[in-house]
Amino acid sequence: MLLYERVAAALRAQIAHGTLRAGERLPSIRRLAEGHGVSVATAVQTYLQLEREGLVVARPRSGYFVRASTPQLPASPPARRRVPGEVNNPALLDATEIRARGDLLPLHSATPALELLPQGALMASVSRCLRRAPAVVLEYAPAQGHLALRRLIAQRYAQVGAPVSPEEIVITAGAMEAINLALRTITSPGDVVLVETPTYHGILQAVAALHLKVLEVPNLPGQGIDVARLDHLLQQNSVRAAVLVPNFNNPLGSLTSDADKRALVDSCARHGVVIIEDDIYGELAWSGQRPSLLRRWDTRGMVISCGSFSKMLAPGMRLGWLACNQWTDALVRAKFFSTVGGTSLTQLAMSDYLQRHDLERHLRRLRRTLADNGQRMFEAIARYWPSDTRASEPQGGLSLWVQLPARGDSRVLSKAALSKGIRTSPGVLFSSRGEYADYVRLSCGLVWNERLDRAMKELGKLAAKLDGSKVITP
Ligand SMILES: Cc1ncc(COP(=O)(O)O)c(C=O)c1O
Repeated sequence: MLLYERVAAALRAQIAHGTLRAGERLPSIRRLAEGHGVSVATAVQTYLQLEREGLVVARPRSGYFVRASTPQLPASPPARRRVPGEVNNPALLDATEIRARGDLLPLHSATPALELLPQGALMASVSRCLRRAPAVVLEYAPAQGHLALRRLIAQRYAQVGAPVSPEEIVITAGAMEAINLALRTITSPGDVVLVETPTYHGILQAVAALHLKVLEVPNLPGQGIDVARLDHLLQQNSVRAAVLVPNFNNPLGSLTSDADKRALVDSCARHGVVIIEDDIYGELAWSGQRPSLLRRWDTRGMVISCGSFSKMLAPGMRLGWLACNQWTDALVRAKFFSTVGGTSLTQLAMSDYLQRHDLERHLRRLRRTLADNGQRMFEAIARYWPSDTRASEPQGGLSLWVQLPARGDSRVLSKAALSKGIRTSPGVLFSSRGEYADYVRLSCGLVWNERLDRAMKELGKLAAKLDGSKVITP
């Protein structure tokens, strides 16, 4: 047995016996080396091996920790709508406020905390644009959006291996407007749209507002979109479009594999289904490796990609985009007919920021922090919440999807949490018919600190008090 394997075996046994517990800090590399009489290189190799096995995690500037092992969510299919139907979920249709309130801990919102965003640099770009181009800033913007920003977005697509021309890009007010414009361009009221379950409430709200029917395909924890089921559904139903989040679905954080993405694009193309690809979390892979876009396998021009700066730079600037070639003119018309154009100030300020700063550098830091936060949230659940709580193990994005023990109702939990100054998102918001009442979505976008640790403890106590028999009927 190699030296590092011997040391790894010793640590593995301590973890298995509970001598070292989830979330506990492991000895520094130097102490490990001294303790086992091995070289520093061997100690490093030991931790790398245990990290590969998923037993330990490295935290920047803090060292190595034992990974938490909260029971994972079952990979079994969630409840789903097998036949097309209207969105029928009062909780979803009433939800209109996501803004953070200073006095409440915003665990409800899938956005990075302000401290994680380059606030100073963005503000400097806004002031520079106001000073240098007041005339442009005060005029109407082109309906398609300013070319400077479209070019920078196209450059980013080229860097991640999904080339697109600036002429194929339309600037929108966030991904939400992108999805709305795409749906309005592709569908007519009464058409059937395929969505994932669970999925982001904004997608369901858009579908409901346009009087479309939904058909649901499961998104499975750790696996992503159930492509076999999707193909089956497309064979059985006449579907016009699919709104999908293959890269880090909200709320699960799951990633659909490349093989499944290719099969999914093929299946939709065979059935004449237009894919509206919501790639808002594509840049937030916790591993640091940017996953591919569906458009990579799109040979027939059937994919409309939607992106946004909301999750990486500034949700309040309301800047997103559409990228596709076949429907560009129709999408520009839809944008013009609805709002004439976007806001010049934010478009030019974002262009200024992107020209002056290294976005990749900011993203590297953000991804690392989110991965670290996600792991700490996971550990806090393992430590403070009832032992039969289950949580998703996100591969990216900003959310953790938690199943409460004993079928507790997350609306009861969310209400009780609010009285303790904590906001959470009850699971019913992520379904078309009010399912997932026993789930809650928590944000991984807050900076880990004492207050967050206390809040997770408080939530654990509240979860333990939930009585499965007390459920709210919608
Ligand atoms: C999957 C998904 N799509 C779209 C949006 C909305 O993004 P934007 O702020 O860019 O409109 C969100 C926000 O949470 C989201 O999670």
